[in-house]
Amino acid sequence: MTVHFIGAGPGAADLITLRGRDLIAASPVCLYAGSLVPVALLDHCPVGARVVNTAPLSLDAIIGEIATAHEAGHDVVRLHSGDLSVWSAMGEQLRRLRALNIPVSITPGVPAFAAAAAALEAELTLPGVAQSLVLTRTSGRASAMPPGETLAAFAASGATLAIHLSIHRLPEIAEELAGYYGDDCPVAVVWRASWPDEQIVQATLSTIAKASANGPERTALILVGQVLSAETFAESSLYAADYERRFRPRAVNGDES
Ligand SMILES: C[S@@+](CC[C@H](N)C(=O)[O-])C[C@H]1O[C@@H](n2cnc3c(N)ncnc32)[C@H](O)[C@@H]1O
Repeated sequence: MTVHFIGAGPGAADLITLRGRDLIAASPVCLYAGSLVPVALLDHCPVGARVVNTAPLSLDAIIGEIATAHEAGHDVVRLHSGDLSVWSAMGEQLRRLRALNIPVSITPGVPAFAAAAAALEAELTLPGVAQSLVLTRTSGRASAMPPGETLAAFAASGATLAIHLSIHRLPEIAEELAGYYGDDCPVAVVWRASWPDEQIVQATLSTIAKASANGPERTALILVGQVLSAETFAESSLYAADYERRFRPRAVNGDES
């Protein structure tokens, strides 16, 4: 018996890995985080599977479901939105399961920031513009930010920012970031990237609050950085005709794509 944690992707039901889909189809128990996991994924569950929306359950109750399946020798799929490596609450479940000696496997998924970038048809790292992407959030009811992880600290680097779980604070975020990136820095807000009701607003740090005032208050990413409108960046040397690559061996380099 194994608990298979699966990144269920950002919303579109076909943005799950083949491995994730096949594990759902092979497991008699499916626990899914109903607030963001698309219900269409449950169509892959085998007939007769026990399918539980864990949104209203406590951690104790979720572990109880898993322990019951463990006693019966039933594999469990545990679906969380996007990828499991960020804001999935997988860590606390893994700790409990390790203590109970219950085996696990982990299958990654498409994170929301990647779906938002795809919706914008944007690369978030461009040569000479930004080579780092910060995945962050602001403090919420359930999670305070560690003291060093301030927007100001990340903004000071000039990196592209992907700000999660913070759409309700957009006006103050934009005002603070304008002090680092400038009023004219491009911003995109992408709500429910890859869902049928996806929405996008693109503006600048000085105009985004007004431009997105009528947008929903949930499930949005705020992307900030010059990469969002840059047209005058250098081309990547990786594909330059005179660049020596691993398959044209004369030099060693660390770039891959
Ligand atoms: C609890 S976190 C889950 C993140 C997820 N594990 C991931 O890999 O992206 C939820 C937040 O992720 C962002 N998010 C999740 N799905 C999204 C989507 N389809 N479009 C835009 N933002 C999304 C929003 O900021 C939302 O408040």
